[in-house]
Amino acid sequence: MRDDLASSPSNPNRRTLRGTTGGAAAEFIARSAPPHANIAGQGGSPAAVADGPNIEGAVPVTLRINGADRQLRVDPRTTLLDCLRETVALTGTKKGCDHGQCGACTVHVNGRRVNSCLSLALMHDGEEITTIEGLGTPDALHPMQAAFVTCDGYQCGYCTSGQIMSAVALLKEPCGADDTAVKELMSGNICRCGAYANIVAAIQQVRKNTTL
Ligand code: FES
Repeated sequence: MRDDLASSPSNPNRRTLRGTTGGAAAEFIARSAPPHANIAGQGGSPAAVADGPNIEGAVPVTLRINGADRQLRVDPRTTLLDCLRETVALTGTKKGCDHGQCGACTVHVNGRRVNSCLSLALMHDGEEITTIEGLGTPDALHPMQAAFVTCDGYQCGYCTSGQIMSAVALLKEPCGADDTAVKELMSGNICRCGAYANIVAAIQQVRKNTTL
C-alpha cells in the first residue's frame, strides 16, 4: 500500500495501520511460538521435559533452553534448528535456506549467535541456548524487540526473529559506531522484503540509548 494515498478508516495507509495495530505488533514480535510451547517466564513449567521420538539410535542430550533444562532424546543427525522447532516446539526460530545462508535460524549458544541449521543438537549438550521466545515477552519486550516495532524493522516477519537474535548478539561484539559497521555485522541475515534501513535504525537506536 502506498503511503501517499489518502488515509481513511476504510482506506488506512501503512502508518495509520501501524498506529492502530501497535499492540498486535508487539505481541507478534515477542512471541511466535504456538500456545502449547513451553515459554520460559510465561507460565510454562521450567523443569518440563520434552522427550523426542522413540526412534532407534536416538541418544540423550540435555540443553538449557531459555533458562530451563530440557532432557531430550534426538537422532544424532538432528540439527539444533530442527530440535528446537520439532522436538521442543519452539517455532519462533525460522527455517529459511537450511544451508547457513540466510540467518533466519539464528539463536544464541552460550551468548554467541549461531546459525542453528548448521549445528547438530548433540554438539550442545549442557550448553545454554537462547531463542526469540527467551528474549522478551509481549508485556516486557527486550529493547531490541521494542526498537524493531518503533523503527518498522519488520515487514513479512519471517526473518525477524533471526534478525533480532543477531542484533542482540551484535551489541556484545566489536562493532564500529557507524551504519556501515552495523550492516557488515548483520550481513549474514537476509531480509527478502528489504527492510535493511529500518533494521539498522533499530539497532543503532538501541546502541545509542540502551545499556544492556
Ligand atoms: S535457515 Fe539457517 S541460515 Fe538459513
